[in-house]
Amino acid sequence: MAKAKQDLPRVRLEVDDKALELATIPATQGNHGVVVTPLMSQTGLVALDPGFLNTAACTSEITFIDGDQGILRYRGYPIEQLATQSSFLEVALLLMKGELPNAHDLEAFETRIDKHMYLSDDFRQIFSVMPRRAHPMATLGAAINMMAGFYPESLDPLDPAAVNLATVLMLAKMPTVISYIYRRAQGNALLYPRPGQNYVENFARMTFQLPGEKFEVPDVFYRALDTLLILHADHEQNCSTSSVRMIGSAQANLYMSVSGGVSALSGPLHGGANEAVLNMLSYIRDNEISPKDFMTQVKDKRSGVKLMGFGHRVYKSYDPRAAIVKEQADAVLDALGVKDELLDIAHEVEQVALSDDYFIERRLYPNVDFYTGIIYRAMGFPASMFTPLFALGRLPGWIAQWREMIVDPSGKIGRPRQIYVGEPHRDYVPVEKRP
Ligand code: CMC
Repeated sequence: MAKAKQDLPRVRLEVDDKALELATIPATQGNHGVVVTPLMSQTGLVALDPGFLNTAACTSEITFIDGDQGILRYRGYPIEQLATQSSFLEVALLLMKGELPNAHDLEAFETRIDKHMYLSDDFRQIFSVMPRRAHPMATLGAAINMMAGFYPESLDPLDPAAVNLATVLMLAKMPTVISYIYRRAQGNALLYPRPGQNYVENFARMTFQLPGEKFEVPDVFYRALDTLLILHADHEQNCSTSSVRMIGSAQANLYMSVSGGVSALSGPLHGGANEAVLNMLSYIRDNEISPKDFMTQVKDKRSGVKLMGFGHRVYKSYDPRAAIVKEQADAVLDALGVKDELLDIAHEVEQVALSDDYFIERRLYPNVDFYTGIIYRAMGFPASMFTPLFALGRLPGWIAQWREMIVDPSGKIGRPRQIYVGEPHRDYVPVEKRP
């Protein structure tokens, strides 16, 4: 429950001999807020907080994280319960609407998604103009932007019907787009979605089925894929989600905003980390480096080497998503009959890191990306597809956060201030007079 107003701290800021009383805003859980809006007009100062370490950009009802306790909840529901009992599309509805859907609403939503998974022949052409070696995230961002051109009736950010349509179109077409990016890179013909086939099954079949062959995998494959999507579905105001909100605050349409999120996610410090983890583990194996020696490199700041898949801005104890993924990794590899020495190396590296003072003092634990790549690899995805899979999972979160932003009556275009530290005024010098 929200903290009673009288229990909130009183915040006074003294600037020289002037005292400014700042309003506070209660959180139902986690950090309460102090409203610094009057700061500049009252004192002439602006707040500086690089990386937004202390700054809330919005209030939100969607996702709660307690980084010290390792807690993650969507709309109040613990991630552990959703990961084991829910489905990805149900979680998508929960994030966007705020409540778990009843059976009728869930089925209607699934049917609507199913109907829109298809991509027109014109849209399919776009995959053939990208070079086969293009990074999948480059094609994915472009494809989502292109949707704005293909579905003009769903662009108006202030029309709820248009936003609902854009929501369904994007969620429905994203698996098809990602499977086409993969098939194009492989040089294989693009397949059509099969009406009535479940979301992740359709996605996996469109991705992996070879001509003249049936695509058959054990149920554990689909369940693990669905779980991984649920685990990635939202993570409050992370870099890509903040980018989506920021772009949307200019009333850019949902596609353009989400495409910006895809760009942010591609970075190795964010969604690109899952690919980077696999590359790191392969490097350790290929160069026969012991986990201990690798850790020596990581701890030497001059080396520029980081332990990818470790550390998090918010989690200062075990990332609850990582705990679920780690448990799944062994089970999935067993069920699929895959033996992967990279999993053994990952276990060893984790053990060495967790007992090393460098990591203990900095409270660095495995994050969600540490083990996901191993599972994706066992399923047959190459490392370059890991971040698009993260994007598929994160899509409902981006959409839910954008939708919350667009109807927020206190919403304003995102426009940070700066503290200018460059040259003061100086006069132009013609080129022939410059030294
Ligand atoms: N390996 C080695 N040192 C690290 C690592 C790491 N993975 N992460 C943090 N540190 C050190 C860092 O050098 C700094 O040391 P010092 O205090 O001596 O300068 C200290 O720990 C604090 O780190 P920070 O960079 O100030 O922390 P941050 O909150 O700004 O960064 C992070 C968080 C996730 C970007 C960072 O931990 C990192 O780069 N991790 C590796 C990349 C990664 O796995 N990213 C995926 C994040 S989870 C999925 C997602 O949300 O996208």
